[in-house]
Amino acid sequence: MRVRLANSEDLGQGDLMNDDDRGLGLHPGDKHYRAYVGHPSRYDVLTGQQFGLLTSYGLREHHRVCDIGCGSLRLGRVLMPFLLPGNYFGIEPNEWLIQEGVEKECGEDLVRIKRPVFYHGEDFQVSRFRVTFEFVIAHSIFTHATMGQIRQCLREVSACLSSGGQFFATFQPAEHDHLGEAWHYPSCCGYRYETIRALAKESDLTCDQVEWPHPEFQEWLRLTHPESAARRREEN
Ligand SMILES: C[S@@+](CC[C@H](N)C(=O)[O-])C[C@H]1O[C@@H](n2cnc3c(N)ncnc32)[C@H](O)[C@@H]1O
Repeated sequence: MRVRLANSEDLGQGDLMNDDDRGLGLHPGDKHYRAYVGHPSRYDVLTGQQFGLLTSYGLREHHRVCDIGCGSLRLGRVLMPFLLPGNYFGIEPNEWLIQEGVEKECGEDLVRIKRPVFYHGEDFQVSRFRVTFEFVIAHSIFTHATMGQIRQCLREVSACLSSGGQFFATFQPAEHDHLGEAWHYPSCCGYRYETIRALAKESDLTCDQVEWPHPEFQEWLRLTHPESAARRREEN
């Protein structure tokens, strides 16, 4: 196959991604694939920070990853090329976000080659994929979820983590727990760290805070089965 390199004359303005394409100037929750999932000006930063976190904790190409609330594939657009085919799984109720993520960020060829698997339910059913995961990530999901949804998510993840598997999630620390009974969007809701730890324990998960940057008021958590946590402590 011959590859033709574009020269500067081929690249008119229309070929570049302008501010409107990037959703710059829009607000979180606006109906644009980048804005809907957060501040559009930080779309790239949070791609890099999520990918860096997973690879720093040992992600390899042969691992399976479940991305809960994968949105417009902010993480998927770099995870899919990295992982071996069939290893990227996403849960996202808003199907249009995935469609636009594929159309505008990844391209159909990547989907054909890497064969991601998606589920569009709202019930956090990681178990419906019928595989186990070395890594699960839920970026900015507990920051909008009810306590009941967090409990359900933790229960599902606990049942599907492989031996030594790790679940990374963000939450917004607060002095008092959010008591709302519906998904809270696009603004964020907070929980006490102790509450999340207690919910994790109900699902037999150990929960630790992770020192990892986040551009907003969110903290990263690492959740593992207790024997994995103990094994890692012995190794270090
Ligand atoms: C703040 S965005 C974060 C998206 C993505 N994790 C990222 O880093 O860009 C929250 C996402 O959760 C999705 N969502 C809403 N309800 C959900 C549910 N019940 N289960 C999983 N995801 C949900 C939204 O559609 C949205 O894509």
